[in-house]
Parts: sequence; structure tokens; C-alpha cells
Amino acid sequence: MGQKVDSWWKKSVVYQIYPRSFMDSNGDGVGDIQGIISKLDYIQKLGIDVLWLSPVYDSPNDDNGYDIRNYRTIMQEFGTMEDMEKLIEEAKKRGIRIVMDLVVNHSSDEHEWFVESRASKDSKYRDYYIWRDGKDGRPPNNWESVFSGSAWEKDELTNSYYLHLFSKKQPDLNWEHEPLREDVYQLMTYWLEKGIGGFRMDVINFISKDMNLPDGEVQPNKLYGDGSPYFMNGPKIHSHLKEMNDKVLSKYDVVTVGEMPGATTDDARLYTNPDNNEVNMVFTFEHMDLDSGPSGKWDVQPLKLIDLKRNFEKWQHGLHNVGWNSLYWNNHDQPRVVSRFGNDGEYRELSAKMLAICLHMLQGTPYIYQGEELGMTNVKFQSMEDYRDIETLNMYKEKIEQGTSHKDIMRGIYAKGRDNARTPMQWTSDGGFTTGIPWIQMNPNTEEINVEQAINDSNSIFYTYQKLIQLRKQHNIITDGSFQLALANHPNLFVYKRMSADEEWLVVANFSDQIERLEWETCDLPSKSHRLIISNYNTVQTTEKIVEIRPYEAFVVAFEKEIGN
Ligand code: NOJ
Repeated sequence: MGQKVDSWWKKSVVYQIYPRSFMDSNGDGVGDIQGIISKLDYIQKLGIDVLWLSPVYDSPNDDNGYDIRNYRTIMQEFGTMEDMEKLIEEAKKRGIRIVMDLVVNHSSDEHEWFVESRASKDSKYRDYYIWRDGKDGRPPNNWESVFSGSAWEKDELTNSYYLHLFSKKQPDLNWEHEPLREDVYQLMTYWLEKGIGGFRMDVINFISKDMNLPDGEVQPNKLYGDGSPYFMNGPKIHSHLKEMNDKVLSKYDVVTVGEMPGATTDDARLYTNPDNNEVNMVFTFEHMDLDSGPSGKWDVQPLKLIDLKRNFEKWQHGLHNVGWNSLYWNNHDQPRVVSRFGNDGEYRELSAKMLAICLHMLQGTPYIYQGEELGMTNVKFQSMEDYRDIETLNMYKEKIEQGTSHKDIMRGIYAKGRDNARTPMQWTSDGGFTTGIPWIQMNPNTEEINVEQAINDSNSIFYTYQKLIQLRKQHNIITDGSFQLALANHPNLFVYKRMSADEEWLVVANFSDQIERLEWETCDLPSKSHRLIISNYNTVQTTEKIVEIRPYEAFVVAFEKEIGN
């Protein structure tokens, strides 16, 4: 039972690149693969050994590459297949593996499979997608698309509807249909043969639908039904993943992470238990949903730290010695964590470091999203013209039509909109991302927050991340130790222990701008003498009995177990 002890990715830290916003090498305002190559030394300096690239395949960019037109070619704006091969090779020289995004719950409506599928009911590709007749002039069921509106689009040509859980340019693939599955396995093999290091699998727990397609429950004030019980973790999900593993993944030494909204710890135990041969780890959304109210993500609520602690505790215990966790605060779909759970004003640096220490001491594989290592913040564009994200734009339009005020909608967008994560990487005080006009505006705070500044300041957030990555490589207690939550009901302090046979590490993080006090005694520690592993204030203010914990302070101290204990 349990993961193979030698799985290399347990000691890895993954860095996620959103290629459109990372580095532009040719001045067209869009990041590209040559841009990534030019920054590999920077990534190596951080200590990263796995790079996950959001999609780089040919795409009409309805959803910035998550709508793939051709899985075997590179998006023109990003470069060529030669560039991609060069990236894999150059990364390898630096000990870095490239993880590709595998988006196979849906394709683009411009993919040749869909073009053929749509053409006629008799097409060989008809069953590659999910087509149904309407019901009394209405869609086949009441499901809502994740990007607003109905999840069904009527196609006049054959007078039928196709399912799209995301935009209408992202038709869902039909995983019930074996030839589709075989085609997916072939395209995966195509990339693995190029020497990539694994896949991040986009909404992979949506691929198996309940094919009766029942109506979903309609919540108060909603126009559509919630279909998620019928497509999240659906009836054949485990058999599809096992088949994929058997036919493709088992032949390569790679890492796999499944993006799985709605997966519980019980689900994740099944998905990530190595005995089941499915995926190595999943991205849970539970901790990302804790600041959402009953009407969903735009219904912004303050985070209750107690909920976050309980949630991490559940996942740490749930997968310990069974499967494996992924650890993340940020990605291209989430707002910037320093603005969300930290403090992006006076305490920006301290709170960014605190969040890093708190997350990176947990068991699992950490993911760092570009710019997180700088403490990049959310952005507040004044005009909707400056927003690019389809989810944000569709939601805005729908809410305005329903009569919500601009101001109320903007509150949600400022806090949760995906473009917060998508403003260009801040390389220098004047941007440094492109010599042209960026496809989305830079965050004006690039003047203070940028790579150049971070590298030249030995006390920067960057070096906290670098140290955390080194610690993970050096100390098995981080990868293997057990987890115990302390002070579970404290509203501001996140305190936990990691424990091995001969040591205990105490991790203390203050999520507030208040001074808090902690009595050593309450933590049930194995000895008195301790050594400091890492801290964001560089010291710990302690007497024999009490530690005084300053605003957003975080530290880790190690206690050796006394002989005879
Ligand atoms: C999840 C991706 O992370 C997100 O960016 C995308 O919009 C949807 N899946 C649809 O592919």
C-alpha cells in the first residue's frame, strides 16, 4: 500500500507557466515558447524541477488555449514544434521536466473531429461528442454551463444540441465512445515520445457523464440546474482512468495530476492510491471554495481560518500513507493568494512569505504559479474593456442583464476574477514582459514588484521560496512525516506539527495583523531545545514559556525527540 517510496515527484516542486503571460520574445504582446526558454535559468535558480505549461497547442483562444483545435501542433503565437522540442531539451539540461496540460474533457469546436461530427448525423465522428434532440423546443436538459447560460447549443445543420460544460466553442468529448478514447491515448503517446515529464489533466473528473443526462436541481434565483452530480466523478471515471493508465501512462516514468473540482478526500483516496493505477495526485478545490457564499464563487465571503485549517487537516490525514496531495494557493484560475488570504498592503512581503511557509511544510507536491514567488497581487482594472477572461465577461453580461449593479459585480471580479492571475509576469520595474503592447495590461505595481528587484534583495519573497524548495529536498520529514493540527480553534494562528521517528517540526503561521501569543506547552512538544528552520522575520521572539507572534509571522522550529521518550 502507499506510493512507491522512490517516486521522484514527491520531492519535486512544480512551477506553473501561463505561456500567454510569461515572456514575449518577439514583441507581439503575447508570451511565447522562446520567451520561456530565455527564462529557464531564472526558474532553475528558484530550484524548480518540474514546469507545468498551460496549453500551448493550436487554438482559436476562446478560452486561452483550453479550447484545442489540434493536439499535435503548437499555437502560432507561441512558436513552432521546433521551439517546443528545444524547450524540452533545454529544460532537461537543467534537470527540469516539462508537464503538458491535457485538455480532453472537451476540444475546440474548430477541431477537425467536431467539424466532421457536426457535418452530419452519419459522420464517423458523430459520436465523438454528445448530441441530443431538444425537448419541446428547449435544450435536452437544464444544465448550466460553467461559463454562464445553458450547457447546450443548438446546431441548425442537424437540428440537434451538443453538450458544452464550458463555452459553446468547447464541446464535450464523448468518453463512452471507444474510438475517441483510443485517439486520446494516441495523442498522449505522441507527446510522451517527445520526452515530456507528465500531464496535468484539465477537469479530468468530468469526462464520464451519467448518460441519462437528468435535470439538475435549480437553486433559488437561478435560471438553470446544477448538473454537477451527473458529470463530476461520474459512473465510469475510474475505469477510464485505469484504461488510460494501462494503455499509456504505465509505459512511462511520468507524473500526473488530475484537476478535479468536486472531488472529496474519499474520491481522492481512490484516484491517487498507487494500487489503483489512476493518477498520482489531484487538485482539490475545497480550500479554494471556502471564501465563496451559497451562490458560488462571485459571492465573496471572508475566509474563516478555522475552516481552512480543518480542510487541510482532512486532506493531510485523508491521503497520508494512501495517496498523495498536491499543494497550491494559486493558478491561472484563481486570484492572487497574497491579496486573497494575506495582505497586499503594508504586510505584502511578510504575508506572502507566511503563506509560502504554511503551505510548503505540508505533505504533498507544491505548485507555484508564476509571480507567486514575487508576491504578485490582484489587479483592479477600471474599465471592463481591459478584461479578457471569457468567464468574467460572460458573467458580467449575464448579471447586468439581470439588473445587478456594475459596482456589485466589480466587487466579485476584483476579488475572484481569473484575470487577476493572468496579468503579465513582472520582470522589471517597467514590465519587461514585452516590447510591444501586452495582450492584457500589466499590473501597474510592476514598478515595485518585479524579478529584478527580488533577485537583488537577499531578503525577498523569492528567496523564501528558494529556501523552502531546498528544505523539501533535504528533509524527509517534510515529504514523509505525519501531520498533526494544533490549536484547531484559534481564529488567527495556523499551527501544526510534522512528525517523524526522531523529530517533530512545529509550523506556526499568523494569518492576521494582530500580535498573538502562543504557549509552548499547548503544543505538546517532545523537548525544550529547538532549532530554527525558517522564519519570515528571521528571528523568533520567545521566552521559555511563550512565543510572541508578530503580524503575519511564520516560522518553523525543529525539536529532536529526547532519548528514552
Ligand atoms: C479548467 C482550466 O483550468 C480553466 O482555465 C479552463 O477554463 C477550464 N478548465 C476549461 O478547460
